[in-house]
Amino acid sequence: MSLEVKPTTRLIDVLRDDLGLTGTKEGCGKGDCGACTVLLDGIAVNSCLVLAVQADKKEVTTVEGLGSPDELHPLQEAFLRNGAVQCGYCTPGVLLSAKTLLDRNPKPTREQIAVAISGNLCRCTGYKQIIDAVADVAQVIGAERAAN
Ligand code: FES
Ligand code: FES
Repeated sequence: MSLEVKPTTRLIDVLRDDLGLTGTKEGCGKGDCGACTVLLDGIAVNSCLVLAVQADKKEVTTVEGLGSPDELHPLQEAFLRNGAVQCGYCTPGVLLSAKTLLDRNPKPTREQIAVAISGNLCRCTGYKQIIDAVADVAQVIGAERAAN
């Protein structure tokens, strides 16, 4: 897909306004909350701090690319199982931070999970359920790999 954008347009604005991918949320707009987290070539970035032109020729993954209502990603299933989604505003960003962690490290410790999501603020859960959910899916992935 190719789009023409102004040099000053932020990635989050292209995603939400031009492409209608409103799963990516804007919170602080200045790099503090992580609500706008997306993956750029597999690395979690704050899309409010990235210019759209910086994504040129890169793969951008938003929460819409993770799973669908009919086919949830294992992380999304684990978040539901563990009560890690409350108001849900932080959830798309947290899911993508967790995905980039699990892609690099399929068996993270709770401390490593906490570090990986430390850029994502959540006002509702106190983080325990989120860490439980990521640890839960890490276990499922580990069991699947062991079985194959
Ligand atoms: S909206 Fe981007 S970090 Fe808060
Ligand atoms: S679930 Fe509400 S901010 Fe995280």
